[in-house]
Amino acid sequence: MDQIKHQIDTLREELNKHNYDYYVLSAPTISDFEFDKKLKELTDLETQYPEYFDPNSPSQRVGSDINKSFKQVPHKYPMLSLGNTYTEAEITDFYNRVKKGLNDDFDIVCELKYDGTSISLTYINGQLTQAVTRGDGVQGDDVTANVRTIRSIPLRLHGAGYPAEFEIRGEILMPWSVFDDINKERAEQEEALFANPRNAGSGTLKQQDPKIVASRKLDSYLYYLLGEDLPTDGHYENLIKAKEWGFKISDATKKCKTLDEIFAYIHYWDKERKNLPVATDGIVLKVNSLTQQKNLGFTSKFPRWAIAFKFQAEQAVTTLESVSYQVGRTGAITPVANLRPVKLSGTTVKRASLYNEDYINSLDLHINDQVYVEKGGEIIPKITGVDVAQRNIFDAKVEFIKDCPECGTPLVKDEGEAIYYCPNDVSCPPQIKGRIEHFLTRKAMNIAGGTETVEHLYNAGYIRNIADLYTLKWQDVSRLERWAEKSAKNLIDSIHASVSVPYERVLFALGIRYVGETVAKKLALAFPDIDLLQAATIEDLTQVDEIGDRIAQSIVKYFSNPNNLEVINKLRTFGLRFELSESIIAQRTEKLKGLSIVISGTFEKYSRDEYKSMIEQNGGKNSGSISSKTSYVLAGDNMGPAKLEKAKSLGIPIINEDDFLKMLE
Ligand code: IVH
Repeated sequence: MDQIKHQIDTLREELNKHNYDYYVLSAPTISDFEFDKKLKELTDLETQYPEYFDPNSPSQRVGSDINKSFKQVPHKYPMLSLGNTYTEAEITDFYNRVKKGLNDDFDIVCELKYDGTSISLTYINGQLTQAVTRGDGVQGDDVTANVRTIRSIPLRLHGAGYPAEFEIRGEILMPWSVFDDINKERAEQEEALFANPRNAGSGTLKQQDPKIVASRKLDSYLYYLLGEDLPTDGHYENLIKAKEWGFKISDATKKCKTLDEIFAYIHYWDKERKNLPVATDGIVLKVNSLTQQKNLGFTSKFPRWAIAFKFQAEQAVTTLESVSYQVGRTGAITPVANLRPVKLSGTTVKRASLYNEDYINSLDLHINDQVYVEKGGEIIPKITGVDVAQRNIFDAKVEFIKDCPECGTPLVKDEGEAIYYCPNDVSCPPQIKGRIEHFLTRKAMNIAGGTETVEHLYNAGYIRNIADLYTLKWQDVSRLERWAEKSAKNLIDSIHASVSVPYERVLFALGIRYVGETVAKKLALAFPDIDLLQAATIEDLTQVDEIGDRIAQSIVKYFSNPNNLEVINKLRTFGLRFELSESIIAQRTEKLKGLSIVISGTFEKYSRDEYKSMIEQNGGKNSGSISSKTSYVLAGDNMGPAKLEKAKSLGIPIINEDDFLKMLE
């Protein structure tokens, strides 16, 4: 008996950890399939040995995604999840259970199972009134302001015939294309990558600033209506109606009668889903008639009238041969797994991303391990697990390196960060080359060259920092192997042309850690020449909208390094632009000088962005959050209740758009 108890305790502990990794850290270390397998093992044991029941067992709850900073709202109808199946035999069992339970004719609606964040939307008199995440199933986060930014969610319903009040549930998704772009940008900034679109999407939905949410172009699919007076007794027919009211309902939804039809649907979509713009991880089957659904009812956790079938992620097993470490331009160290080549969904996989030290430790990786590799649609495959049974006791545990593999400097890690850095930014070769390469890119200085150009010029000893580019002569370059006179001249011409690149792009080109294109633009407007930026304190910097402590600290650190100041001074002598252009400056006034203004809500005359630029153009500071230093709150419709309360409690004057425009007259 003791052994059973031990087994149950171990499973509970493991599952609690995986729940935490998934919901809190957004960094799962095992696949859903393995998680569900362990959960099933636990529930089976708990059913067999009810004496070990525990209300706090991970089997007794759906994972919570509650975030402290959003208002908690109870769900009118609990938000349940579905029982999972992985085999056709289990689908047949479900079908036969339904058949037996109903003892009547029935239809099954087949739907795609979208892999995003579930959401419940309430509509009253055709207007969106509330959007709540699942949370713990009983109550969730009120994310209405963020959901309003999602274009595919109607704020007002089309047509007529919708119930006076109803809820519609579905999934918020980040399309693959947006996910790829964001990760590309994060990779360029050497920031931690999102593991998949689900994490990226749920992270976005929990942003405090709806503008960031809007910029991330989230999408949605709705699949479940709840209310007292829905139009028909058919789930499928109601979805068709919902489509007419303006909701995004999947065209893949299909009404089936027989098991054969259901299997044909599953087989078709298992292949075809790879061409969809968003992630799916299975199929959902639902009994169509609402009356029949009611008759079948629920078990303690799941509806008896619906079930999910999860697709198996394409997986391969191979050997971990070694781990190598790449050094990026900001000194960020990225561990990469070198694998014995293995075929996976049509391509040969040799390498897999290992993200950071925590990821390696959570897998407890050893060299020579047999590892499971998956390609979830992402470009870089990843290791999702280890077959520990195959491990040889002499195989060494993978220990994250302590020193830079390129220059030998001991690595450092900032508190609370997952990524190690090589601090030797002056003489660590990949950092120098990486910074110069970044400087050349199209969005930065747009100079005609890439990795190879930098490699040649660096190896020839011509360049050791970005300022050296401006002393290059075409005659010297053309003397190098593989350089024709024409390409040498082209390079030098484009270097010379780059002196007219505007200030905000020069700021981006400097390659300050965490200063991407958008941040550089904001900095340029708030600190119209580089001397002002250099003199800015953490406090000054964090007054700027969307600039937090992390970015501010990185900027201050950059300007406290004499090497960087020397490079900037040299660049200045070559004529690079270190101040905002005349025309932008000409439009500037000082009417709002010294004022810190927080914008909240939606406006009629101008957009939020336009108001933000007006504040900045007129010498004011646009700040994201209300504090005792806030001078005014510029409030539109639907100002967030938390902000309103805070402004009132601090006695900060609240003005509307007309008041604000008068201040600029
Ligand atoms: S129906 C009571 N339909 O999968 C039934 N869910 O484990 C409510 N999901 O929490 C859910 N696509 O987040 C349903 N077509 C679909 C779905 C779907 C994705 C998600 C949803 C739910 C989970 C079920």
